[in-house]
Amino acid sequence: MSFKPANNIQDLQYFGEFGGVNPSISDSSTYTFLSAKTMFDTFEGNADGCYLYSRHSSPSNLYLGEALAAMEGTETANVAASGMGAITPALLQLCQAGDHIVSSRTIYGGTYAFLKNFIPRMQIETTFVDITKPDIVEAAINKNTKVLYCESVSNPLLEVADIPALAKIAKKHNLKLIVDNTFSPLSISPAILGADIVIHSLTKFINGSSDTVGGVVCGTQQFINDLRNVNDGACMLLGSTMDSLRAASVLKNLRTLHIRIKQHSKNALYLAEKFESDGLKTVYPGLKSHPSHELFKSMMHSDYGFGGMLTIDVGTLDKANELMELMQNNNLGYLAVSLGFYKTLFSAPGTSTSSEIPEAEQKEMGLSNGLVRFSIGLDDDIERTYQMMHACMKQLNILD
Ligand SMILES: Cc1ncc(COP(=O)(O)O)c(C=O)c1O
Repeated sequence: MSFKPANNIQDLQYFGEFGGVNPSISDSSTYTFLSAKTMFDTFEGNADGCYLYSRHSSPSNLYLGEALAAMEGTETANVAASGMGAITPALLQLCQAGDHIVSSRTIYGGTYAFLKNFIPRMQIETTFVDITKPDIVEAAINKNTKVLYCESVSNPLLEVADIPALAKIAKKHNLKLIVDNTFSPLSISPAILGADIVIHSLTKFINGSSDTVGGVVCGTQQFINDLRNVNDGACMLLGSTMDSLRAASVLKNLRTLHIRIKQHSKNALYLAEKFESDGLKTVYPGLKSHPSHELFKSMMHSDYGFGGMLTIDVGTLDKANELMELMQNNNLGYLAVSLGFYKTLFSAPGTSTSSEIPEAEQKEMGLSNGLVRFSIGLDDDIERTYQMMHACMKQLNILD
């Protein structure tokens, strides 16, 4: 694949307002106009390079958006105050009353809750499908379907979407394919594989320091203009705008993403192989036993590996909780939701990030109570980490 996402980030060049190597941070909510006519033109969307009001756009947010668009290979992007602040306006921009969405059933709990519980208030219905079965996906499409929605690697079951196949289906039925790429930045480039819109929760690997929430919608100039439109743009009108100071700090962290992702992936692969050979039920796209291992390989930029997320199943929720508490007490990471931090984070998705999904549905999709989701950290000595985790598992009789 000739598309090199990390080179695109490396090649960003800034000459700040005062020659700074970092662009100056725009610390203003509103902007002056030297002529009233220019203000009018800006409202109408006809004055490139002019800023109106920071809920619409601001220089710092545009810098971050352009960097993320370069990473994903889209024309442009719009940053938001959180991942949900990117997902919800993108869906609301594309759908209106009477429309229908086909979505993967294994997605982040908040997105699931929005589709299942919130958006039906606007008469927008969703059919949830097993995204790994393209024929089932296609069969769920009806004449009102507008959007096909999935995560490249799903939360928390780590199912892998066949993006080229889904893009083909979307094109055939004139739908927009939205891919949430939060779990696999750099490893997978959904837009290059045919997705129309790529979304990230920047909160996770991209920012990487667990100090803020943030989101982005990457897409065509036309779609991003639509989101920002002062009359009917969902980002502009719903107002989940990222703060400029945050945009500047996320941009700085983005520059080390390639180094971090390589280390997360290296560590996760090491642990997944060890856990699997210890006899634990382990799910990681880098394992040959993963049903979509070959598919992931066919879509990935191999330098960045299979990502930092893995799951193990320790049988029961009680065991999962005991294990997580013991690992935290032994300073192996934090019992916390979210992902992409320098330390390992672990949680039991059934009772945390996926608790919005009813228990019966969790069962049907294979989300068991004993599942522990790991976001593997940047540990320099992962062998030491493994030995300590192994000892915790032995102490709790999870391993003999
Ligand atoms: C895959 C995925 N998408 C979206 C989100 C939502 O992002 P945020 O918490 O930044 O709103 C999350 C959060 O956990 C996530 O894991």
